[in-house]
Amino acid sequence: MKNLINKTALITGASSGIGEAFAYQLAKLGVNVIITARSEQKLKDIAQRIKSTYSVNVLVLSEDLAAKGAAESLFHKIKAENWSVDLLVNNAGVGKWAGFLEETVENYEEMIELNITSLMKLTYLILPEMLRKGEGGIINVASTGSFQPCPYIAVYCASKAFVLSFSEALYGEYRSKGITVTALCPGNTATGFQSYANADTRGMRSDTPERVAKEGIAALQKGKSYTIVGMDNYFQSLLPRFLPRKAVINIVGGMMGKKVNKK
Ligand SMILES: NC(=O)c1ccc[n+]([C@@H]2O[C@H](COP(=O)([O-])OP(=O)(O)OC[C@H]3O[C@@H](n4cnc5c(N)ncnc54)[C@H](OP(=O)(O)O)[C@@H]3O)[C@@H](O)[C@H]2O)c1
Repeated sequence: MKNLINKTALITGASSGIGEAFAYQLAKLGVNVIITARSEQKLKDIAQRIKSTYSVNVLVLSEDLAAKGAAESLFHKIKAENWSVDLLVNNAGVGKWAGFLEETVENYEEMIELNITSLMKLTYLILPEMLRKGEGGIINVASTGSFQPCPYIAVYCASKAFVLSFSEALYGEYRSKGITVTALCPGNTATGFQSYANADTRGMRSDTPERVAKEGIAALQKGKSYTIVGMDNYFQSLLPRFLPRKAVINIVGGMMGKKVNKK
């Protein structure tokens, strides 16, 4: 999907961080944006800033995508407003850095609903109209944590392994039909993610959300199935190909055990 002018993008998790950066950068490219998250006022403020800077339309729809039936509800709201999505940016997601039993199972259920179920359902609901147009793009925000199991971030990284595997599979199914599905895999990025995740990322290199969004858009336009942000993160993602799986688990566990903020 090379030409984005006058297209419409749905961006989940657009109230902050990487999603907010996607909203501004797509608007700058002439893309109308539907921005969604739970924080309605933040979305309205972002919509105001976009409209005062770029000549695009903005639709604000608040939704809790960790709630059951939320993807369907969001899709129906978009249809009720007579909008049609050309580019879906499945970005909303949360993580928790903690020993597996230190979080509640309810937290994990919500994380899975948000990171996996809503992402899969929005894709399922929106892909048919892209197929009818013979053109479309989907950027699914995965992670460098998609490439290997991560002790102390077990459920989050498993959810991001789903996102990568799911996206690459759909890339294989729909590329010849004019739809590009790109998994965007950032490493540590300076957003609100770390404080919610209870992650101690001091001393770790981080990217800006603007760089991550820019690389995601560029990868989609180049027709890539996935992209990893940063050469260091790319080389790290290759480790499971060269080392025994058990060695990778031990290396990641040794690193991450020290990065979990003790409550
Ligand atoms: N930051 C990193 O280091 C990093 C690294 C790799 C991958 N990622 C991925 O990047 C994506 C964006 O995260 P970020 O770093 O930009 O973090 P962020 O600044 O915390 O943004 C998360 C976004 O998701 C939304 N969100 C959270 N819970 C939601 C819910 N229940 N329903 C709807 N929206 C919800 C938030 O909005 P509301 O709170 O207003 O709902 C916010 O807009 C996530 O998928 C994350 O896993 C981040």
